[in-house]
Amino acid sequence: MNSTNLETILEGRRSQPHQLIEVLQDVQDVYGYIPKDVMGIVAKELGVPLMEVFRVAKFYKAFTLKPRGKNVITICTGTACHVRGSQLLIDQVQGQLRLKPGDTTKDGLFTVECVNCVGACALGPVVVQNGSYSNHMTPGKLRRAIDKVQGKKKEESPHA
Ligand code: FES
Repeated sequence: MNSTNLETILEGRRSQPHQLIEVLQDVQDVYGYIPKDVMGIVAKELGVPLMEVFRVAKFYKAFTLKPRGKNVITICTGTACHVRGSQLLIDQVQGQLRLKPGDTTKDGLFTVECVNCVGACALGPVVVQNGSYSNHMTPGKLRRAIDKVQGKKKEESPHA
């Protein structure tokens, strides 16, 4: 944990419980997740019960309690995307990366998440990779996107 960053985040906010969400947003931005030990410090410094800090950090989708990979793949599993095949996309990443939604690969390269809707229902199934939207996603396109991050070269094939 970088105490300088945390010190900067807490500056001018100590003993101000109403600053909790803003502080957690800054913690998420700096660390990429909300570390448990930081939650304890935030609780103490803002004067908020630790259980409340935990509840807020767990409630909002914008916060994550686990470290995320360098590449975050978010698969929309809302109704519109579901009927257009989002389960096939989940099957693809599970098979290719050997993980289930919510997990991060051991090498820290990928985190895969599912969400209920990203607001582009007519263009589903939608996958968001590091904030970049891909519409009408297919298992093949998703496999190639993952291969590209992994640095695999696509083999030349006249039938590809
Ligand atoms: S259900 Fe997938 S974008 Fe709305």
